[in-house]
Amino acid sequence: MTVTKAPLEEEVRQTFAREVLEGLKADQKSLPSKYFYNEKGDRLFQQIMEMDEYYLTRSEYEIMKQGRERFLDIFSAKGSFQLIELGPGDGMKTKVLLEHFSKADTDFEYMPLDISGNVLDILVADVNQRYPNLKVKPLCDDYFRALDWLSTHNKGRKVVLFMGGNIGNYEPGAARDFLKEVSRYLVPGDLLVIGFDLKKQPSKILAAYNDRQGITAEFNLNLLDRMNEELGTDFDRNNFIHYPVYNPASGACRSYLVSKEKQHVTFPGEDETIPFDAWEAIYMEVSQKYSLGQIEAMAHELGFAVHEHMFDSQKYFVDSVWEWQ
Ligand code: AVJ
Repeated sequence: MTVTKAPLEEEVRQTFAREVLEGLKADQKSLPSKYFYNEKGDRLFQQIMEMDEYYLTRSEYEIMKQGRERFLDIFSAKGSFQLIELGPGDGMKTKVLLEHFSKADTDFEYMPLDISGNVLDILVADVNQRYPNLKVKPLCDDYFRALDWLSTHNKGRKVVLFMGGNIGNYEPGAARDFLKEVSRYLVPGDLLVIGFDLKKQPSKILAAYNDRQGITAEFNLNLLDRMNEELGTDFDRNNFIHYPVYNPASGACRSYLVSKEKQHVTFPGEDETIPFDAWEAIYMEVSQKYSLGQIEAMAHELGFAVHEHMFDSQKYFVDSVWEWQ
């Protein structure tokens, strides 16, 4: 059903080991947040999206709901299009658009791109059942390999969606590099729709990453459990605390796991021991917040025209529509 194959399991495990060790051996220890999403991590993220404190999902859902007509006008202004979604997750917000577009008898294909075949299988089954007439073509691959394949198999205008505030997991410079790479596969007139979480009341932002129930803490600690399961390490999750900080000047909300005591962790397969000082921190994740000015500057720097900003009623979040020139 999927067009291309994901890399082999053993290759994936080795890359995982290499990347986490690289992070833990650096002066400032870090772990890559992309590894949060194993099966348990997917479930925890689902719970995060349902929390009171986590406004991002509700805001973007409102944008889709209120803006679906406008999105359709913009996307279909030049006839048929391909709706290409990078990392669709459960597609909850995208389904608002898919439903509206299929009711309106729109000529388009939906192409979710994800490295996880599991995510795609669940999503495709669900979308096929809800909208039997919709053309769905999943691509199970690395984003850029999939975009490369797509650039020689395109049908109409490309509309690339990168929703959910996922862009926030990149530092601003890396976000720019990522979007520049995406733009290499576009032709003039193609669109890029990016969900950015906006700067706002700092306490509101911090609370979204520091929920009372401790689900976000679990989400971070789960990566330690995952390393124990998949790499044979001996992290004791009780020896670490989750600690997020928001810097209103830079717009970076950063999460750390802090070692409560002096300890060490072993990587038996790799024959490595990682020492921790008491209160030493592992930097886990950035969730970057932007101002509208920063978003517009980035679009122009990369060679896009800003077509339109789509906001929720509280202006917490924006889905910014850019057109490749
Ligand atoms: C999936 C990257 C949008 O940064 O807000 C949620 C991930 N981390 N709570 C975010 C996350 C902690 C989330 N994104």
